[in-house]
Amino acid sequence: MKMTCSTLREAAQKAGLLVGSACCPHLIEQDPEYAAILAREFNCITAENCMKPMYLQPQHGCFEFNAADRLCLFAERHQQKIRGHTLAWHQQMPHWLRDARFDKKEALDILDDHIANVVGHFQGRVFCWDVVNEALATNGRWRTDCPWFKMTGPDYVAAAFRAANAADSDALLFYNDYEMELPCLKSDGCLLMLKRFLKEGVPIHGVGFQYHLGVENRLDFNTCVANLKRFGDLGLQVHLTEIDMGIPVPVTEESRAAQAEEFTNRIRIARASGVVSAMVFWGFTDRHSWVPSFTHGKYDEALLFDRGYKPKPAWQAVMNELCR
Ligand code: XIL
Repeated sequence: MKMTCSTLREAAQKAGLLVGSACCPHLIEQDPEYAAILAREFNCITAENCMKPMYLQPQHGCFEFNAADRLCLFAERHQQKIRGHTLAWHQQMPHWLRDARFDKKEALDILDDHIANVVGHFQGRVFCWDVVNEALATNGRWRTDCPWFKMTGPDYVAAAFRAANAADSDALLFYNDYEMELPCLKSDGCLLMLKRFLKEGVPIHGVGFQYHLGVENRLDFNTCVANLKRFGDLGLQVHLTEIDMGIPVPVTEESRAAQAEEFTNRIRIARASGVVSAMVFWGFTDRHSWVPSFTHGKYDEALLFDRGYKPKPAWQAVMNELCR
């Protein structure tokens, strides 16, 4: 039976899913149309930047929660769940931490202290955290260029989960990464890491697949469904955490249609897997997307609404799949 819904949020709610968007407090405050669409279309939000360590602890021991608190207030006003992003990542670390030479014990103490403060501060407000982001390299082994890894070796990963659990035993704790959509060295390595953590009693509850992938990456349906399932089979929750789909520039009507088609495919993959409980887009409007700058202008129009906030064919495609 087909349901009639007019927003992604309504459709997701009926399907028992979370549909989310990354967002920024200054845009919410400066642009009423941005805020209105964010509130109307999504039952979940995540902080695109303002919960990252360089913003929350810009100076050693000085925490700045103001912007992130404003984001939480918006979410609460609109009955939206909040995904916290992120506690330990090799990028967007504060300079005092990234450029310093702390020994292993000092570094693990700093990690514990950051997580205790941040997770403690948002306790009861943030329902799930990307505790560790992108700890693995393409070959499925540890990413060795991460400052945390340089200071502590791989130990920071499990330590971060333990610290988050100690600070909020109700929060769902996720490992989040990219390039894991298909079976490959990295997704295999991640699966092994997660299995080991579960065996060792590391408090971890979910895995996030970023799904930043250009439109030319036509994902094979069966392969991707099977890949998501093998993570769900571990008993972990699975979220798609940062969905976007850049289109090579110049964008044409054909490539926009292809984007809608591939969004259909990707949402179908998530739904058919039976294990994905949240689908979070990395923003919702092409007016504010990291894709053009990240790809040095090679890709654009990666999201569901255009620069003038009109829903695109991609929005309709996602809508249709959520209504199924
Ligand atoms: C990006 C933000 O979108 C940008 O605004 C910022 O300059 C860099 O970080 N993977 C992640 C996200 O986990 O935190 C990144 O967000 C995109 C890639």
